[in-house]
Amino acid sequence: KNTIKDIDLKGKRVLLRVDFNCPQFEDGKVSDATRINEALPTIKYILEQGAKLIICSHLGRPKGIDAKFSLKPVIAKFSELLGKPVAFADDVAGPDSIKKAKALKAGEVLVLENLRFEKGEEANDPDFAKKLASLADIYVNDAFGTAHRAHASTYGVPQLLPNAVGFLMGKEAEIIGKAVENPARPFVAIIGGSKIKDKIAVINNLIDVVDTMLIGGGLAYTFIKANGGKIGTSICDDESLQLAKDLMAKAKKKGIKFVLPVDTGCATEFKMEAKRVEFPSDKIPDNYGGFDIGKKTIELFKKELKNAKTVTLNGILGVFEFDNFQLGTKEIAEAIASLKGATTIIGGGDSAAAIVKYGCADKVTHISTGGGASLALLEGEKLPYVEIMSEKK
Ligand code: 3PG
Repeated sequence: KNTIKDIDLKGKRVLLRVDFNCPQFEDGKVSDATRINEALPTIKYILEQGAKLIICSHLGRPKGIDAKFSLKPVIAKFSELLGKPVAFADDVAGPDSIKKAKALKAGEVLVLENLRFEKGEEANDPDFAKKLASLADIYVNDAFGTAHRAHASTYGVPQLLPNAVGFLMGKEAEIIGKAVENPARPFVAIIGGSKIKDKIAVINNLIDVVDTMLIGGGLAYTFIKANGGKIGTSICDDESLQLAKDLMAKAKKKGIKFVLPVDTGCATEFKMEAKRVEFPSDKIPDNYGGFDIGKKTIELFKKELKNAKTVTLNGILGVFEFDNFQLGTKEIAEAIASLKGATTIIGGGDSAAAIVKYGCADKVTHISTGGGASLALLEGEKLPYVEIMSEKK
């Protein structure tokens, strides 16, 4: 693919798609800036070339315009890390964006409001893609975290402008690609988090690649319920129950170890001070919800990890922001970090934040800024942007 070093950026208006979908505190402030930091080399390079930079990103999953999902607090952090002021447009390719993009001078930065405030983004609507593209002369994609999505800003716009990929795109694809080309075995995948539908869909292909699959986090309860367990008020995707059953049957048939939590840290309410009580994962009382893997499960997962030669952690194992429910994520992060001679890949915004929080960042092979995107690569899938971005001449 064309990289930013292959095109002349001087004096050009560059539209850069990044993934600033960072974990946030309740007040909106960024709680982990990994994704911003990882985008900085590309941003600085573009500015050094004397371009006028327009940055766009999504944040969360808003349904239309919703102040709770404004990129503003994220941009405050970005400006601090970049070390210079950054202009902000309070719309996406609307009048404010157009006016501010026109006024940009070489070396200046404008950030657009959350792309997902526009319905056309996720639908990859051609009119929206056209509006977005008209803000700039050149398109650059460095949003590895969103590389598994074919949205207007990642799939539509590059078809309308001369384009290139940024440094993070290149780095992620190379490191993850190498790790999974011929993975050392056993290959253990630990999958957690709460994006149940997304994760269940990828597990199907992951079963073909790994030797052992450890399931934790919010994802686990759909599997436990599918097995007939009682999960209380724990999150569950009832529409995916049959699929969960099919996946477990597939794993069994292939001889893949598919390990679910045997116990669970539970509480009657979802809040920081909630008291932790442990129950067997399939016998959670009606008024309790599961918020972390339990202590027996932690030991079970550690045993599976002991001899692993390739490990991927994708998704946190509990509500690690709450002190009483961080145990599973913390212990498993530390167990991964202590492995000797294994390739260890951490994927996704929350998992990266957890690895940083527990001081394990420099003890793993790679922290990917992509959750779903790194899983797609691990499965050997071709990412949508690859199809669309220009070939290097
Ligand atoms: C992520 O956090 O995995 C990316 O930012 C993509 O977000 P999405 O799953 O809401 O598309």
